[in-house]
Parts: sequence; C-alpha cells; structure tokens
Amino acid sequence: MDFLKPRYTPMNRRRRIYEGKAKVLYEGPEPGTLIQHFKDDATAFNAQKHEVIDGKGVLNNRISEFVFSHLNDIGVPTHFIRRLNMREQLIREVEIIPLEVVVRNVAAGSLATRLGLEEGTQLPRSIIEFYYKNDALNDPMVSEEHITAFGWATPQEIDDIMALAIRVNDFLSGLFLGVGIRLVDFKIETGRLWEGDMMRIVVADEISPDSCRLWDIKSSDKLDKDRFRKDLGGLIEAYTEVAKRLGIMSENEKVQTGGPRLVQ
Ligand code: TMP
Repeated sequence: MDFLKPRYTPMNRRRRIYEGKAKVLYEGPEPGTLIQHFKDDATAFNAQKHEVIDGKGVLNNRISEFVFSHLNDIGVPTHFIRRLNMREQLIREVEIIPLEVVVRNVAAGSLATRLGLEEGTQLPRSIIEFYYKNDALNDPMVSEEHITAFGWATPQEIDDIMALAIRVNDFLSGLFLGVGIRLVDFKIETGRLWEGDMMRIVVADEISPDSCRLWDIKSSDKLDKDRFRKDLGGLIEAYTEVAKRLGIMSENEKVQTGGPRLVQ
C-alpha cells in the first residue's frame, strides 16, 4: 500500500533547522532545499515588543511569493522555488550573509532620526545601508570597511549585493507605484547559493510589508509593519490591502488564517 503513503513529511516529524522571530526553517524534501514557514508573530525593537497577529504569516507568505516569483521571472536570482501551502514555501538552502541591506528612497524611520530629516522627504537618490545582523548588538549599522575587514563579505560580493539591491528597488518601486503605493524603504537579506563549484549571491529571506515601508500615495496611510511598531492598529487590514492591490487576493476575499500551524 505504498502508494497511499503521503509523499510529504508530517509537520511534527520535520527537522527544524532554525527558528527566527517571524519564521521557521525546516529541512526540505530534497538536499539543498528548505521549507520556510511564516509565523504570525510580530516583533519590534529587537523583540522587546511582541504580539501574535492572526493571519500575518499567511499574508506575508503570499505577498513574498508574489514578489520573489516576479524577481525570478525578470532574472533577479532568489532562493525562492515555490509556495507549498498557506504558510510555507520551498526555498533553496543558502549561506546567509549576516547583513541587513536597507534601500531608502524617502526619509523615514532610523534615517530620519539619525540625520534629523523630516519623514517623507524624497532623498536626492536611493541610498543603500548595511546593518550587521546581530540581535545581541541590536543590528548596528556598518560600513563596507567593517564588512570586508571582518570577512562578512568580500568587496566583489558587496558589489553583487548592491547590484541586487538596486534591481530589487527598481522592480519594487515600479510594482508599488502601479498600485498607488510609495515604496519608502525596504530591507533585504542575501545568501550564497552554491551550485557545484560555482557560487552566486541571491536574494533570500522575505520581502513583505514586514520588511518594507509602504505608504498610500494619496493618503500617505502606512500599509506596513510601522502600524505595529507605532501602535496604529489595523495591520491585517493594511497587509490585506497590499495583497488586494497586487491582485493576489480578490476584492471580497478574507485571509484564511487556518492552514498548517506551527508545531511548537
Ligand atoms: P529603519 O528605518 O528602522 O532602519 O528601517 C529601514 C527598513 O528596514 C524599513 O523598511 C523596515 C526594515 N527593517 C526590517 O526589515 N527589519 C528590522 O529589524 C529593521 C530595524 C528594519
């Protein structure tokens, strides 16, 4: 009766590779693959603020799938293979480069604070910043000097990462502009994908309203995680609005929060 056996590994028997604040990585079905599971947890200020927001993981899984599939289609390499279900996607295993790469088009958040700029000021050009991914240190901002001196990435890799970041910014800016949303800034993570002896840098992690600042062009309403950071409420409504405008969800669809749940 072998044909009756499921071809997938039940959730509770899967090997957990890594658990972060908003996602869990499980061993994938084939070598070199992983399953990325989106939780409903929202954290801010290095997890000092934490809430579980029912349905956030489902929305981020769908929005990130949409963005990564389009990036793959236009030749921007990513770790994404395909979505598996409501909360999970199949990805390629990469060696994560310990940098948060932030691209800014408009002054907001920590840049506005650091340089005393008024939120909403258009920047003279897009600015790329690097932060060292280290919770214990609160993800400090670093320069290319630190990155190369400490061996987090080589000068050639930094060039590749910046080229990827610019291509993602060009794509995302146009995508969101087309649906009446201003892409203020966003964060990506990158990783080394090994194919035999060849290595290339690809976009990894997620791209969702958790990792972008998205403002409605007309009203300047915030459609991103700042709703949680600043206690504005309406996070699910905002993420649903983004999904609807992108054509991921139909006008009267409501997010199904069921689907596979995280096995603790
Ligand atoms: P910041 O203005 O707080 O430095 O954030 C810049 C962008 O990076 C913004 O779109 C939110 C995103 N971001 C993350 O994705 N994770 C983080 O931990 C932080 C601090 C920001």
